[in-house]
Amino acid sequence: MNFDELGPPAEVQPLNSDSTNYQQPQIKIKVILLGITIVTVLVIILIMGTVWTYSREQPQKPMPINEFKISTKSSTSITSSTTLPKIKLESSRSEICAATRWNPVGKKLVKIEHASSIAVDNDFNVYVANWDTHTLQKWFSDTNELINLFEEQFPETPIFYHSLTRSLYFFYVYKDIPGVFKLVNGNSAPVNVFSSNGRGWNLDQLDSSCKGLYVNAAGDIFVLDQGRHRIVKWVVNATSGVLVAGRKEDESNSDQLEFPSGMYVDEINNSVYVITDMMGRRIKRFSNGSVYGVTVFGGGPSKYLSEIKSEYVEPLSMIVDKMGNILVGENSKITRWTSDIKYNGIILGESSGGGATHFYTPQLMTFDKLGNLYVYDKSDGQVIRFDVNSTSCINNLH
Ligand SMILES: *[C@@H]1O[C@H](CO)[C@@H](O)[C@H](O)[C@H]1NC(C)=O
Ligand SMILES: *[C@@H]1O[C@H](CO)[C@@H](O)[C@H](O)[C@H]1NC(C)=O
Ligand SMILES: *[C@@H]1O[C@H](CO)[C@@H](O)[C@H](O)[C@H]1NC(C)=O
Ligand SMILES: *[C@@H]1O[C@H](CO)[C@@H](O)[C@H](O)[C@H]1NC(C)=O
Repeated sequence: MNFDELGPPAEVQPLNSDSTNYQQPQIKIKVILLGITIVTVLVIILIMGTVWTYSREQPQKPMPINEFKISTKSSTSITSSTTLPKIKLESSRSEICAATRWNPVGKKLVKIEHASSIAVDNDFNVYVANWDTHTLQKWFSDTNELINLFEEQFPETPIFYHSLTRSLYFFYVYKDIPGVFKLVNGNSAPVNVFSSNGRGWNLDQLDSSCKGLYVNAAGDIFVLDQGRHRIVKWVVNATSGVLVAGRKEDESNSDQLEFPSGMYVDEINNSVYVITDMMGRRIKRFSNGSVYGVTVFGGGPSKYLSEIKSEYVEPLSMIVDKMGNILVGENSKITRWTSDIKYNGIILGESSGGGATHFYTPQLMTFDKLGNLYVYDKSDGQVIRFDVNSTSCINNLH
């Protein structure tokens, strides 16, 4: 919607300068005309006020479904998922398992030429934002079928599955207004979660390029606003975001977040991790609300070199487990680190054991509700699932 269409407020007509006329009847007529003018202006202002208030509320309404090209093939498959069993919702945070081990032999699920983001729902179906075909795709774990949910118009955008509300969140620029939408409970009609107030530096605004999305247990949404080099958090029902990391318009702390390309929120420690590509690939951590980050991986010879036995960390992707441990995707392997950045070993990939499933470029990672780890190998275009192999997890799920 366009606020400019309403135009500027009408002005009150100035009194006629020759109103110093002593003829009584003319004055009476002028007074009546003035009265009518004032009433008319008041009515116009009242109507415009109502229209403006109404249009401010518009973004909260569901997006008209016909604005998206939705594949007809998808609708039957999607509605069938409403009968699936519910998961327990007592958990205060997402259903990521505190796994200590994953089976090094992975299962190759589906090939996707160019995925920009992946997510897994509570029924182990995989969603893929495919930037090659500009589609949102869904792969069904039970039938091995791959379908398009949105065809052609789906941008290179991060997607995020929120297991507590069974909703798939995504960023979308709708009618030139950047905002966040969701598909609830397998329904293919998108619902608007919030809309920004257009593009810009204000905290109620966003840029059109979003590179990371995270929804915490409370439903607050973290947006990695790449074009503005910052992360903003939109709490539930807020009309504006809060600066979490990065900079304000005229600040020059460009070393903080220049062209961030990925983000993960650690809800346990209230930290935000950001992958940034400027001056070499590295991961920065913004702890407990601080807008100033500390480099924890990469960005030159590592200060943790002695601890990691001369292995140089080149982060491609990262994710945090239920205990706050950090999994870092590097070339041909995934390493694990404790939350205070102590090296804990290679958990998957090269030298993780004979018969291990090999991958080269673990560009994307995500967990399902059981803690199984899904890795997207960019060089092979392959989504691989590594199942949890640790009974210590089971108790943590209840
Ligand atoms: C889990 O790990 C143990 C010990 O490494 C191994 O013996 C067992 O085969 C693994 N289980 C599965 C299902 O891979
Ligand atoms: C957000 O708004 C909705 C709709 O008005 C309301 O039902 C809900 O309770 C609100 N949530 C919070 C956390 O304010
Ligand atoms: C993160 O949380 C874990 C578990 O509560 C704690 O052991 C660890 O010290 C925390 N790390 C940091 C850097 O705060
Ligand atoms: C995080 O910040 C809040 C508010 O400033 C403070 O109350 C809390 O103790 C901090 N938590 C940690 C783990 O530092």
